[in-house]
Amino acid sequence: MKSIDLSIAGKTCIILPGTSFDSLNKFCAPDNTVIICDKNIRILHGDKLSPYRIIEVEPGEGHKTLETVNTIYEQLLTIETDRSTTIVGVGGGIICDITGFAATTYLRGLACGFAPTTLLAQVDASVGGKNGVNYHGYKNLIGTFNQPGFVLCDFSFLRTLPYDELRNGIAEVIKSALISDSTLFEYIEKNCKVIISLNNDAVERIVGDSLKIKTDIVSRDEKESGERRKLNFGHTIGHAIEKAIGLRHGEAISIGMVLAAKLSEMRGTLAREDVLRIESLLTSFNLPTEIGSDRDAIMDAIRKDKKREGTDIHFVLLNGIGNAIIETIGITELEEAIFDLRQHL
Ligand code: GLY
Repeated sequence: MKSIDLSIAGKTCIILPGTSFDSLNKFCAPDNTVIICDKNIRILHGDKLSPYRIIEVEPGEGHKTLETVNTIYEQLLTIETDRSTTIVGVGGGIICDITGFAATTYLRGLACGFAPTTLLAQVDASVGGKNGVNYHGYKNLIGTFNQPGFVLCDFSFLRTLPYDELRNGIAEVIKSALISDSTLFEYIEKNCKVIISLNNDAVERIVGDSLKIKTDIVSRDEKESGERRKLNFGHTIGHAIEKAIGLRHGEAISIGMVLAAKLSEMRGTLAREDVLRIESLLTSFNLPTEIGSDRDAIMDAIRKDKKREGTDIHFVLLNGIGNAIIETIGITELEEAIFDLRQHL
């Protein structure tokens, strides 16, 4: 597949969809590269990683912390890493975020690349230069923007994913389609089965299109001062649900996207039939579409959202499928809207 160049402020990140992990040595010399991964990746793909030095971290969101970054710094110090070393994160979104942060801060910045192994990381987390860790219960509170040098998306990694992890990524692909590509949305509607079976053409299409959408947006607004907020469609409520109820990211944003679509309908920018199409597509991948009974916990988490500005939230709505708009919504209005929506579920 064709590579994609994401150029920002004179620095280019080369994104390689459908490229074998075996070609990693073309981007960094094995004897001067350190791979960061977790135990699961080491068990599944240890043979591929063997030419490289490895720093292994504990898996899971609970370990996306400064303590984990500290253990990485200690090991980088022990193995006498210098400014010529390249750090490569091999894993899902958590590994990409931690690796990007450690690489950006150690020695004031080392070269860095990613080999994302999950669909979610291939279409979203590995691209765009956001990195960081959670802090005191807040998601990604500490972090930087720093573009990696390369992102190598080996589709064969996706075949080792459990179905739940695949759904996680599909929710982000559907998000990409909803915010900017109605043709991709229609393609997913017509091809659910081949997508879930990881048919090669289908994977190329959904990953390639999602990357194009994300890189186009990030190239225009790296620091999320405007258009990049569209990538948070479904995430304001989704992150709150993730935190309050502990659903997986894809499940939480699936509910968040349906609520945002219903809010769009209430505001007159999305037709009822399109809301139903969105719900139906998410359901066909067994993604949840309804908020549970935890409204208070969810609202509490929204109030604590670090992206909130005063009493307002930049909320992403749809002006038709494939066209996102950013509106400022007061917390109280959002609370009332979520309450109203609950009455209709
Ligand atoms: N995942 C949203 C963003 O990269 O902005």
